[in-house]
Amino acid sequence: MRIGLLTGGGDAPGLNPAIRAVGRKALLAGDSILGIRNGWAGLVGEGDMFEMDRPQFSGILQLGGTLLGSSRVNPMKRDGGREEVLENLQRAELDVLVVIGGDDTLSVAAWLADQNAPVVGVPKTMDNDLMITEYCIGFDSAVSVVTEALDRLHTTAASHHRVMVVEVMGRDTGWVGVMGGIAGGADLVIIPEFPITLDEVVAHLDIRRRAGSDFSIIVVAEGVHMDGLDADPTGEERDQFGHVLLGRRGVGDWLTRRIEQFTGHETRTTVLGHLQRGGSPSAYDRIWATHVGAAAYDLAAEGRFGWMPVVVCGAVAPARIADVVSEQRKVPRELYELASVFY
Ligand code: F6P
Repeated sequence: MRIGLLTGGGDAPGLNPAIRAVGRKALLAGDSILGIRNGWAGLVGEGDMFEMDRPQFSGILQLGGTLLGSSRVNPMKRDGGREEVLENLQRAELDVLVVIGGDDTLSVAAWLADQNAPVVGVPKTMDNDLMITEYCIGFDSAVSVVTEALDRLHTTAASHHRVMVVEVMGRDTGWVGVMGGIAGGADLVIIPEFPITLDEVVAHLDIRRRAGSDFSIIVVAEGVHMDGLDADPTGEERDQFGHVLLGRRGVGDWLTRRIEQFTGHETRTTVLGHLQRGGSPSAYDRIWATHVGAAAYDLAAEGRFGWMPVVVCGAVAPARIADVVSEQRKVPRELYELASVFY
């Protein structure tokens, strides 16, 4: 079998363990692997691919990022892009393409599956918002970064009796915010699924002060909507999948200024940004990226195109790529409420 392998969208810790799992299983079975550089960018135009062998799949388990490179290039938005992808797949004589990505990257894979192209997916997104699967590569590592940041911010917040606003990633869903908030003991978590008003934030801080806590940690997801906060201050600036560049929206700083204005409490902002996607994968991400990578190889070998491994009830199972990207998985109310009770 000749396998093409690509990683697309935002990078996340755990991509290299997944690449390693697919590659090592393939080499053991006597298959060949073609690495595709920088996501879908490597399959448009002339294509950008390279033969991979055992040395490339060694010593990468503990490495963050992706040795294949990544991008948010969307072939569906490029004149002739779809045809170029199909031509490049044929020219490279691939028997199957393994696509490791989140909803944007996998939506292109779902389209390819509709064209009867041999494609298998792998779930990756630190946002953790793919349907069906309990596990997405990169989420656990991102939550660990948020947790450590909150631990550190607690001590300085307490020393200065300040409010600390911590902006985390999360465009439409607040998984990183809510799980990081629970693990790091945030006093208030604000996420897209459960909007609150500035008055409610101020009231919350007031209750804490009256209860004797003279500092507070607020986690806010970059994609939240609040009255008076511009949803799209960057105007026309979008990535190729049409998303606003939320890191430039400045929700953390906006909230910090309003809190100072309405409470008089000294307040500071920390934007965790791409720290949440950098560095070594956690043990959990290494283990499960290995599981789903190996399972993706098995689906490819069985010819189950248009499918991908997901994790359900702690076990790997197959799901249709189209179903996994059909909508975003939202944070359930019970989890949000768990994050809200300890203030
Ligand atoms: O991949 C999703 C994500 O992590 C979002 O939460 C965030 O808005 C986005 O990536 C930022 O990515 P980039 O700066 O790479 O475009």
